Amino acid sequence: MCGIIGVVGAVDALPVLLDGLRRLEYRGYDSAGVALLHGDSLWRARSADGVESVADLIAKCDDGPHDCATGIGHTRWATHGAPGEHNAHPHVDCASGIALIHNGIIENHHELGDELRGRGHVFTSATDTEVLVHRIEEFRREGLTLTEAVRQTLNEVTGAFAIAVVDAAEPGVIVAARRVSPLVVGISEGATYLASDIPAIMDKATSFFSVDDDQLLTLRAEGVTATDLDGTPISLAPLVVDWDLETAQKSGYPDYMTKEIHEQPEAVRATLLDHLDKDGTITFDEMRLSDDALRAITKVTLVGCGSSYHTAMVAKYAIEAWARISVEVDIASEFRYRNPVVDETTLVIGVSQSGETIDTISALREAKSRGAIVVAVSNIVDSSMAREADAVIYTRAGLEICVASTKAVLAQIAALEVLALRLAQVRGVLSTERVVELFHQLTSTVDLVAEAVSREAAVTQIASQIANAHTFFFLGRHVGFPTALEGALKLKEISYVHAEGYPAGELKHGPLALIEPGVIVVALATDPALHEKILSNIAEVKARGATVVAVAADGDERIDAVADYVIRVPATPALMTPLVDIVALQQFAYQMAQSRGLNVDRPRNLAKTVTVE
Ligand code: M6R
Repeated sequence: MCGIIGVVGAVDALPVLLDGLRRLEYRGYDSAGVALLHGDSLWRARSADGVESVADLIAKCDDGPHDCATGIGHTRWATHGAPGEHNAHPHVDCASGIALIHNGIIENHHELGDELRGRGHVFTSATDTEVLVHRIEEFRREGLTLTEAVRQTLNEVTGAFAIAVVDAAEPGVIVAARRVSPLVVGISEGATYLASDIPAIMDKATSFFSVDDDQLLTLRAEGVTATDLDGTPISLAPLVVDWDLETAQKSGYPDYMTKEIHEQPEAVRATLLDHLDKDGTITFDEMRLSDDALRAITKVTLVGCGSSYHTAMVAKYAIEAWARISVEVDIASEFRYRNPVVDETTLVIGVSQSGETIDTISALREAKSRGAIVVAVSNIVDSSMAREADAVIYTRAGLEICVASTKAVLAQIAALEVLALRLAQVRGVLSTERVVELFHQLTSTVDLVAEAVSREAAVTQIASQIANAHTFFFLGRHVGFPTALEGALKLKEISYVHAEGYPAGELKHGPLALIEPGVIVVALATDPALHEKILSNIAEVKARGATVVAVAADGDERIDAVADYVIRVPATPALMTPLVDIVALQQFAYQMAQSRGLNVDRPRNLAKTVTVE
């Protein structure tokens, strides 16, 4: 979480920082700040209200920091210390000459802080971060260069960090480092940049490099030098960046969520592209796993968080149905603490939009340490997960900025279902004819997704009529269950309404006690094989006074008689129904948030990429 940016070189640093921070706000927006080297002094501005208020603050300042060549900026998602100006980054040392920004958590900050206080340092924040800048200050007083002072400090630290540090006494330099929390470097003629994520600097730099764990960087106008934390020189790995600036902008849409919902047909189409050879073989160029390795697998375990956990659940149904392998799905944060049973015949798949979610990375590391074959499903090329896994499957959703995931979710389902077909084919469970037929069914969902997206007005109209409701249950069976979980999650995260997703069969085992007039039940009724069962569940909640919104396929004539409202979606093969049903649920959640006047792109307390446990 948190976004960090830095620039050093022949550019006016302030607009670069503000522009970059605006594009990083999806990572956190509790507060923001910048620090610039101005002559021989350090200039700092922070606000508890995010990037725009930092910009306003600076605009009102007569002696503002113009034409500074070196600066760093931060947009915060609070972990230690409540949101507020005093906890906003950058943090400074006692003499206000050194400034530091940080994304991550310093786990031993209590011990370090006690020692530093004992030696007379005065702390002005409640963050875990501030210890770093005071310790660097001590090493600087001993005569170490800024790079060496940062290195010594980081060798005393446990936890996660992406940091950037500037010192007025060493102008023209930014020192940065990474452990766990993401960091990228960009270089252009005469200027060097760093950021948590590419979009912040993608229109500024011309070449990009990834930074790995425990790498320390010294950035100057003319480029970057890198070492490990022992001081051994290393080369940074070049990064492939295939986005343009347009992808990071709203392009006429009112918000990123709407834009990204509308980009879903393309996300699915691009993700499915080039996976079927002329001879009917399913292929994954980047997968790097031999047919023999796939044949030797005895179990598949999928891990993910949030929406990515839900898509992993959808994949379980597809892999078990088509490839006939036993599949477990785990919430990534639970996996490594349960002594999981995996070995070299287990395929462990980490599902993630960002490829940076710390819980999923940790789960994959745990699996790898136990000998499992580890595959990352990542939307970001060269993400941490993609680089660490034995193999990678890329979803091609393009840059997703809205905190609530939409197009990445559909792309993950598409990619995982192709993987299910690959496993079915290589293990000889399905004939090539059947695999080709199912693959074509998958590609035809692109039009069905487009059709679902186009029905926005009808969903909006229904959602508007029940916008004042406070309690929602989403019920589904089979792949309708993870779809229900995803619908409930979308509603919770952007409308702040209490919503629960449930397998419809569990209704009688507790939740029915909560059903009363005023409760809304959203029932997923698109799977023909389970239609009768869902109709019974609808009858049960209706009998207890609930209002029912059904998501039903075109041509379902029975649903109108039992549901209060019906959201129609195009009829879709059962295992692929999440691809269209989820679109309707995204639009539903969007309208609930709109009715409440909420900012859908920036839900409270959340951040797009969760890089802390
Ligand atoms: O980048 P990841 O897919 O690993 O992120 C996982 C979750 O944090 C993410 O899906 C989150 O639940 C979204 N806000 C859901 O809309």
